[in-house]
Amino acid sequence: MLICGIESSCDETACAIVEDGRYVISNTVASQIKTHMQFGGVVPEIAAREHLESINFVIDETFKKAGKSPSEMDAFAATMGPGLVGSLLVGANAAKAMSLVYNKPFVAVDHLQAHVCANFIDSTIEPPFLCLLVSGGHTQLIKIAGFENQEIVAETIDDAVGEVYDKVARLLGLPYPGGILLDKTAHSGNPHAFDLPIAKVGKNEFSFSGLKSATARLIETFDKKNIPTEDICASFQHTVAETLVQKTLMFAKEFEYDKIVLAGGVAANSEIRRRFSDLEKVENGNYIVNFPDIKYCTDNAAMVASCAYFNPIKTHDSITMEVYSRG
Ligand code: KG4
Ligand code: ZN
Repeated sequence: MLICGIESSCDETACAIVEDGRYVISNTVASQIKTHMQFGGVVPEIAAREHLESINFVIDETFKKAGKSPSEMDAFAATMGPGLVGSLLVGANAAKAMSLVYNKPFVAVDHLQAHVCANFIDSTIEPPFLCLLVSGGHTQLIKIAGFENQEIVAETIDDAVGEVYDKVARLLGLPYPGGILLDKTAHSGNPHAFDLPIAKVGKNEFSFSGLKSATARLIETFDKKNIPTEDICASFQHTVAETLVQKTLMFAKEFEYDKIVLAGGVAANSEIRRRFSDLEKVENGNYIVNFPDIKYCTDNAAMVASCAYFNPIKTHDSITMEVYSRG
């Protein structure tokens, strides 16, 4: 089954064609990073306008690279939310229009579910598994017993991990989008240079605002010209990874789950990937850890097409469905 997916929830205009939910035939992502960089963050009105300018080209390019025509698709899918409404409308309407023109089903996809489904691309993994979803707007640990049987077992009570990455990066003078640059800078620092706090919160909670404030206070103790940026990045990154590994492992043990998957933009982080990969070795090889290829961690449309195929919760075959800003 061939599905064409479209993603436009934030600052990436993306289109992909995926076969049977796992095999990517072609994948195109047009990033707006350069546009928003000058503002230090995404400007919603500009994002929507830029999606409009890029969408036709991105779709044409995807079909050209695949050597396929839209009439060969079995369905068209798009992200309906959560995200920026003006941006979502562009991708959703493009996919709905193709579905009407070519008389094929339209599948409405939830962005967070799509991130989870990125794990199916180029892999054979199947639920049950525990999914750590870490993105710019969300931090959740989801018990996925089956496609139709999911439960959020822990969630952030304040900032999302990606949000804190971007805020700390900004305090350190790293340009938007800060997360990836903070990750790179951390490679040349000492992760044990500074002792940063792991929040003491309830079993079903994550919290990152305390870590953000502690890092901000640490930065302020230095003269602006002598901030040990590499060491701060490495210590911050070490604390984030430790926090995520501890809670994920605790729930994996409680549920007796041996499969752990990572999803979302922050799953592209090198230290988080390393620490979770290590679980396959240090925990007596008891765990199978899966994470998507880096290009399928951050926003893309292959995960949207994959999600439409596996059809987990919040995915509907409904051309009348409206886009939504919050999950
Ligand atoms: O999933 P995503 O592309 O968009 C949302 O759905 O939010 O995630 C974007 C987030 C941003 O906060 C970005 O800074 C972060 O993922 N990110 C990273 C890395 N690459 C992207 N954070 C840490 N390390 C990275 N390598
Ligand atoms: Zn995302």
